[in-house]
Amino acid sequence: MSFEHIAPHYDWMERLLAGERLQHMREAWLEKLKGCRRILSVGEGHGRFAAACTARFPEAELTCLDASPRMLAQARQRTLRPGENCRWVEADILEWIQVERYDAIVTCFSLDCFSPGQLAAVVAKLASCATDEACWLVADFAVPADGAARWRAQLVHALMYGFFRIVTGLPARRLTPPDELLRAQGFSLCGRRVTEWGLLQSDWWRRTGR
Ligand SMILES: C[S@@+](CC[C@H](N)C(=O)[O-])C[C@H]1O[C@@H](n2cnc3c(N)ncnc32)[C@H](O)[C@@H]1O
Repeated sequence: MSFEHIAPHYDWMERLLAGERLQHMREAWLEKLKGCRRILSVGEGHGRFAAACTARFPEAELTCLDASPRMLAQARQRTLRPGENCRWVEADILEWIQVERYDAIVTCFSLDCFSPGQLAAVVAKLASCATDEACWLVADFAVPADGAARWRAQLVHALMYGFFRIVTGLPARRLTPPDELLRAQGFSLCGRRVTEWGLLQSDWWRRTGR
C-alpha cells in the first residue's frame, strides 16, 4: 500500500471533488485540543489538519506520522513557519514502535484505510500511547443506517474504495467503523457531527475509563 503516486494530486483532487467539506470535518472538534501539550496525528497526509492545528495551538507539540514520504513532505511544506513545533515521523503505523504518550490522538480520513484486523491493531496501538484522559478526534467517511442516504453513501464508497485500491493498493475493501474498538479501549463518544447526508462524520472521543 502506498500513497506515493497519488500524493502530488491529492490536494487538487480533494478541492475539486469535495471543496472545503473534508477540511470542515478535520477542524470540527479542533477546539477540544485546547490544553493538550502533545498531539499525535496518524496518516496526516498532505498536512491540512497539521496546518490548522499548529496555527491554532502553536504551543502544542504536534507529531505527524505517515507512511508516505511525499505526503509527509507536503505536510511539512504546508506547516512550515518560524518556531514550528512539529515532529515528522515516516513510518507504517502497523510497525511503528511508540515510546511516548500523547494527550490527543487525531486520525483524519486514515482509519478507513485499514482492514478490520489491521484496524483493531492500530486502535490498540494508538490507545496504548494515549494518556488516561486523552481525547481522540476521528474524521472519516460513514455509511448511514438506512434509506436513500445509505444507498448514496454505498455508491460513493464503492467508487472511492475501487479507485484507491487500484491507485494505492489499499488493503481495506470497505469501511470498518472504529467505534466498538475505541470503546473497548476506554474511550467514550462525546460529540459527533454528521454532514453530506451522513457521508461525512467527525467525532470527539475522550478516555473516561479502562
Ligand atoms: C486517505 S489519506 C488521508 C490523508 C489526510 N489525513 C486527510 O485528512 O486527507 C490516508 C493517509 O494515511 C496514510 N497511511 C495509510 N496507511 C498507513 C499506514 N499503515 N501507516 C502510516 N500511514 C498510513 C497514507 O500515506 C495517507 O497519507
